[in-house]
Amino acid sequence: VDGSRADAVAAMDWPALEQAVSGCRACGLCERRTQTVFGVGDRSAPVMFIGEGPGADEDRQGEPFVGRAGQLLNRMLAAAGFKREQVYIANIVKCRPPNNRDPSADEARACRAYLERQIALVAPKLIVCLGRVPAGNLLSTTESVGRLRGRLHRCAPTGTPLLVTYHPSYYLRSPEQKAKGWEDLQRMLALLEAEGAI
Ligand code: URA
Repeated sequence: VDGSRADAVAAMDWPALEQAVSGCRACGLCERRTQTVFGVGDRSAPVMFIGEGPGADEDRQGEPFVGRAGQLLNRMLAAAGFKREQVYIANIVKCRPPNNRDPSADEARACRAYLERQIALVAPKLIVCLGRVPAGNLLSTTESVGRLRGRLHRCAPTGTPLLVTYHPSYYLRSPEQKAKGWEDLQRMLALLEAEGAI
């Protein structure tokens, strides 16, 4: 998304934004997608979860986090007292990277205006980054999740408070690490309570 396009996206309402994403050809990921994966949930949610990009299940169904990682995310949300419908969920890139590789810096940049508009429209009290890719993109850092989790960050340009936790697929691979996810959820709840958001 180039400069003038980014300005246009920054002024869009939800229907215009959804339409722009569904027809987007701003990077090469559009060539191999089944469909774009926009975002889902409460558009005035107190908390927004941001993942990396659609996988095979998401590409097929057009909704973020509907595969195994998504099912774990739903269970983690439930443990924190949230239904999936009460939060907003989106990804850094809206089209599936081939073989689930990380989105490139160029692909993330091409998609950035859409995510920024989603953040501006939802105006969450808190953003939770799921894993290294969204954290790296939104915080412009190469630091590991291990170093980024456990403290409060701010997301530019809005300054929205932001927490980092591991991607749910990491907890699927390393279930013994799930206690860390639970710790991060407690942090999330404490912050939302402090903000008067829940
Ligand atoms: N992993 C992600 O990062 N996002 C999804 O939507 C699904 C799996």
